[in-house]
Amino acid sequence: MIRPRLAAMRALVTGGAGFIGSQLTDALIAQGATVTVLDTLTSGRRERLPENLDLRQVDITDAPAVTAVMEEIRPEVVFHLAAQIDVRASVTDPAHDAAVNIGGTITLLEAARTVNARLVFASTGGALYGMDAPIPSNEKVPPAPEAPYGTAKYCAEQYLALFNRLYGTQHVALRLGNVYGPRQDPAGEAGVVSIFLGRVHDGHRPTVFGDGTQTRDYVYVGDVVTAFLAASTHPDGGVWNIGTGRETSVLDLIKHIGQAADHEVTPVFAPARPGELQRSALDATTARNDLGWFPVTSIAEGIERVYVWVRDGRPDRATS
Ligand SMILES: NC(=O)c1ccc[n+]([C@@H]2O[C@H](COP(=O)([O-])OP(=O)(O)OC[C@H]3O[C@@H](n4cnc5c(N)ncnc54)[C@H](O)[C@@H]3O)[C@@H](O)[C@H]2O)c1
Repeated sequence: MIRPRLAAMRALVTGGAGFIGSQLTDALIAQGATVTVLDTLTSGRRERLPENLDLRQVDITDAPAVTAVMEEIRPEVVFHLAAQIDVRASVTDPAHDAAVNIGGTITLLEAARTVNARLVFASTGGALYGMDAPIPSNEKVPPAPEAPYGTAKYCAEQYLALFNRLYGTQHVALRLGNVYGPRQDPAGEAGVVSIFLGRVHDGHRPTVFGDGTQTRDYVYVGDVVTAFLAASTHPDGGVWNIGTGRETSVLDLIKHIGQAADHEVTPVFAPARPGELQRSALDATTARNDLGWFPVTSIAEGIERVYVWVRDGRPDRATS
């Protein structure tokens, strides 16, 4: 399998019109890569992408269409970020979640095989490790997802590993923490930063479910993008946690948001949501050792950047 330098890379980014995918697309172009985006624009937006970018409005579950794009573009690397990302929707309709998040990934793996391309897959760390996982959780902790979304992502990871064994490929899965940053829609796994900042900017009080002591590993989108770039040129396949190793509680978030907005923020408290994890943080020591990756953006700095983006009217093409 060819391992290109970023500067000469032909890349296909599925979900490239989304929050993380569009930031990754910008970074790849900045490094000199040639990028095609494959996206249904379900939650993604054309406006997030450079005007002349090659966008194919194709569903990852449409095998003939995906294969046709793959054979035309002949990418060396497929950054696979297209997904059904709504955890609660996965509980309501697990079959649809599995069709997109498992079925779609298998379709891509098969299509990638026809052109000898490598997959770098956006898995989840935040929705994979269970209630009793040690904190921070490393990759050796047995997954125990609390929702079909996490189960489907884990299953897709298993297909990547299976293809690596069957075909000698070097596909990669990155288990992301709760990613936040500019361009994030107020939905998905970590939309809380975007939701809270929007509420505060509009002069409203954010709603906290439960007592606000529940923690997550919030990782800035710019740091996640550098992890994708590092993984794409690493010689081996594998599974890496991508997080800060730090727990940030909802109450901590509120405090940082108050600092960014320059006034005290008092939340409204609502009953805890059933099935919600109390604690989550990812040990990313293996990514540091293997990929040379580590996050550089503090939560205060990241929230400040999202605040500026919200204040500026949430532009699609704001930089990270
Ligand atoms: N945001 C997070 O905190 C987080 C955490 C862990 C993992 N992830 C994973 O990272 C990836 C990107 O997440 P995001 O937050 O940027 O979400 P997003 O919704 O902004 O991006 C997903 C993109 O995929 C597209 N898409 C959806 N279904 C599709 C389909 N069937 N075919 C083709 N395109 C389709 C959407 O239009 C959208 O542009 C996802 O795989 C998600 O599961 C995100």
